[in-house]
Amino acid sequence: MTFTIDKKQDIKQLHLNAFGDKEGPLIRDLVGDMLEEQETISINIEKGDKLVGNVLFTPFNLTEHPDKKCYLLAPIGILPEYHGQGLGKALIEKGVRHLIALNVDAIFVLGYPKYYGRRGFYPTYVALPYQTEVMRIDAWKMRELKPGSMAEVGGTSVACDAIMKPLYWDINYEPGN
Ligand SMILES: CC(C)(COP(=O)(O)OP(=O)(O)OC[C@H]1O[C@@H](n2cnc3c(N)ncnc32)[C@H](O)[C@@H]1OP(=O)(O)O)[C@@H](O)C(=O)NCCC(=O)NCCS
Repeated sequence: MTFTIDKKQDIKQLHLNAFGDKEGPLIRDLVGDMLEEQETISINIEKGDKLVGNVLFTPFNLTEHPDKKCYLLAPIGILPEYHGQGLGKALIEKGVRHLIALNVDAIFVLGYPKYYGRRGFYPTYVALPYQTEVMRIDAWKMRELKPGSMAEVGGTSVACDAIMKPLYWDINYEPGN
């Protein structure tokens, strides 16, 4: 996707506001880098002409299963004053519909286990990029878009360049520490 400079600024600002002072700057910079990548899919949710939410999907490659077409969901942000109104859910489902139309097999996400557990995501044996031990991590989940296509699929993975930095995958990372 290509974006105007203004649109990029709006999306970066939205994530800064959604993630707050601590995590916001890191996520804003990640979003800026992701928006530079041609294959990034960016989906907005608006109220009137105000941008209130955004989610990015970037290509996610399974090393041992190059035939599988997968995307990473990251990040998703809704402005704090709009939380709890179903907008996060609506944004994810808008993304899912878009990716199904693109014939995508599955979406991966690293995030709140309960939140994504209620959005159709399940634990997976596909390893996180930079994961050294084979183990299931509660916060690392997959949502299959083509029924049955991800059965028995595991192995290692590579995300888009913008997020291929160990700190984005460190499940114990606390900004500022
Ligand atoms: C996470 C986020 C996108 C959810 O958006 P939202 O529009 O508030 O979510 P929805 O209205 O669709 O869903 C709300 C439900 O999710 C639950 N929920 C919200 N945040 C949650 C969390 N961190 N863990 C578990 N459940 C959560 C709410 O309790 C609510 O439950 P209910 O349906 O039983 O009332 C939003 O809180 C956000 O932008 N947070 C800051 C950025 C962030 O953390 N992004 C996700 C990183 S993984």
